Amino acid sequence: MRLLETVRSQFFNSLQKIAGPDSAALLERISPTRDTQFGDYQANLALAMTLAKQLSKDSVEVAQSIADQINADGWFESAEVAGKGFVNLKLKDSFVAESVIEANQSDRLAVSQASHPKTYIVDYSSPNVAKPMHVGHIRSTVIGDSIVKILRYLGHTVISDNHLGDWGTQFGMVIYGYKNFANQTAFDTEPVAELSRLYRLIQQIIAYQAAVESLPKLQEQLGVLTNGLEMARKAMEKTPADKKLAKNLKSAEKALRDCEESIQEATAKVSAVEADQVVLAAAQKHPNLATKVLQETVKLHEGDAENLELWEVFLPHCKAEIHQVYKRLGIEFDYELGESYYHEMLQPTVDSLVERGMAKESQGAICVFLDGFEAPMIIQKQDGAFLYSTTDLATVEYRMKHFNPDAMLYVVDHRQGDHFKKLFACLKQTGLANVELRHVSSGTVLGKDGRPCKTRSGTVVGLESLLDEAVERALQVVCNPDRLQKASLDLSESEQQRTASIIGLGAIKYADLSHHRETDYEFDLDKMVQLEGNTSAYIQYSFARTQSILRKLDDQELQRVNAVEQGQSQSKQTDAQKEMSLGRIQWAHPMERTLAIQLLRFEDFLHQSMEDYLPSVITDYLYELARMFASFFDQCPVLRAENATQKATRRLLVECTGKTLQRGLLLLGIDTVERM
Ligand code: ARG
Repeated sequence: MRLLETVRSQFFNSLQKIAGPDSAALLERISPTRDTQFGDYQANLALAMTLAKQLSKDSVEVAQSIADQINADGWFESAEVAGKGFVNLKLKDSFVAESVIEANQSDRLAVSQASHPKTYIVDYSSPNVAKPMHVGHIRSTVIGDSIVKILRYLGHTVISDNHLGDWGTQFGMVIYGYKNFANQTAFDTEPVAELSRLYRLIQQIIAYQAAVESLPKLQEQLGVLTNGLEMARKAMEKTPADKKLAKNLKSAEKALRDCEESIQEATAKVSAVEADQVVLAAAQKHPNLATKVLQETVKLHEGDAENLELWEVFLPHCKAEIHQVYKRLGIEFDYELGESYYHEMLQPTVDSLVERGMAKESQGAICVFLDGFEAPMIIQKQDGAFLYSTTDLATVEYRMKHFNPDAMLYVVDHRQGDHFKKLFACLKQTGLANVELRHVSSGTVLGKDGRPCKTRSGTVVGLESLLDEAVERALQVVCNPDRLQKASLDLSESEQQRTASIIGLGAIKYADLSHHRETDYEFDLDKMVQLEGNTSAYIQYSFARTQSILRKLDDQELQRVNAVEQGQSQSKQTDAQKEMSLGRIQWAHPMERTLAIQLLRFEDFLHQSMEDYLPSVITDYLYELARMFASFFDQCPVLRAENATQKATRRLLVECTGKTLQRGLLLLGIDTVERM
């Protein structure tokens, strides 16, 4: 149920009797209270003030007449005026009870399906294959997967597409590498590892050559900047109070620092290669490597038989590697139409834009000039080559034709923000896609040093080994013999492995999701697998706890029924079920009611999370729910409830909490275990 909407529409029924039908806009002002002492929902001061103005009355007076009307209409338990015109609303106990029962009995927690379903295309994961993958690649994958799941759950049609980078310059690099430096035996046994090695080698040599070339210029620049700084200092000494000079000095210092840093970086690249005779010899034997690599890419794109054949050999291996990771993460795509898929469509896309007068030649290149942008969007270079943007345009054309979507979401690293701004402007301007277009941008995953995660040898951490490590840590935290004994959990070896796998992989996903998707965050496995705090393990543990309580309740019930009527227990309703069917659910303790309302807000949060495509709204909700459950369980004994009604009420809450936690995690792509 959409609780907030329900509250608003009930409020509206009363409000319009006072303010007329125009009052609908005022409903925005109703929100949940922070402190349940003041009721469940609150209509704020501004509402009464606006109305008071309209009706030329005092705001408190208006608030009072709204409250009176609400109390007369009887939708709510009570409406009270607080402060200078707040109206505090308390939901009816019976309404809360019936709604929780309904949610608990429904197989989708009474979450409604969209009345006007939309068709979404979600473009996510989309790694550039044939180069080493790292943990950063998982973030778009995990966020995209969760958005797909939530939108689908809300009743929309969602097409998920992995727009693989399978046609870019990295292939020129590995093709050149393979032709010149391959270790055939290594390639035959571990093709992807060998391709990664070749990629790194080529990259290293290119960086080395660029560094060697740039160093003399940098040194020269250093001299100029040092002089400049000296002069700026002297000028400052003469007139110390001059603000402009102080500013000059600061920027001269910064320019010098930047230059020194660039020299340091370039020198490091040069020394690393010079320390390795094999790489050094390769670099000397293959001058201008960047150009050569580019030529290989061009040849591939022009259909050169040898390069195409190599590409066809490499690609399946690259795909197999990444599919392995998806499989472990339980992620599937409807389509995997990579960049190569659109290759043949690029020229027609450019031609048609030119024909329609949307694109034109400028300095030999074909460009789309965009309103509001200084630089145009280049769609074909002088030498005939196409760009990343061209492929994206062709992709959109294809998607519009085949899927006719209402919205296209791109879950991609925030560093591509400018690309998407231009792309969207171009799509609107050319009329290629008049639909909702969103760059659902994600922040970067950093290592403890504030840079992308590295292993000790300095190479980027492989994805699979990282997943293994997460599982291993989860095993230590959750399944260590001490903890298992204390919690009297006897899990078989394979159960322990399964549990650790679910918790370890969940930890990685949850960390990606629970940080606001636009912020960078530090990848810290130790923190991620903790059983306390805002972690998946804590939510999973809370779920397992609900299941354990339910098992104990069932045992208790079984024993009792057995004692009364031997042999007939299976067909009998439990006491709790009886109470529920009689509608005897009563909120005797405030924590019960607070938890109940949090449960009823589930759908509100699903919608809220999709307003800005923020899965972290769901993780926050689940964390809050789990914490509320913990305080409820602390304060409200379930197994030792005082009477049947109390037990039924608490059982209902435990059951519904379990289902909501589990569903919420599933929508994030995270599994649960019954015992942990
Ligand atoms: N392959 C690109 C990268 O790794 C991301 C592609 C995103 N999707 C798109 N349609 N541009 O940077």
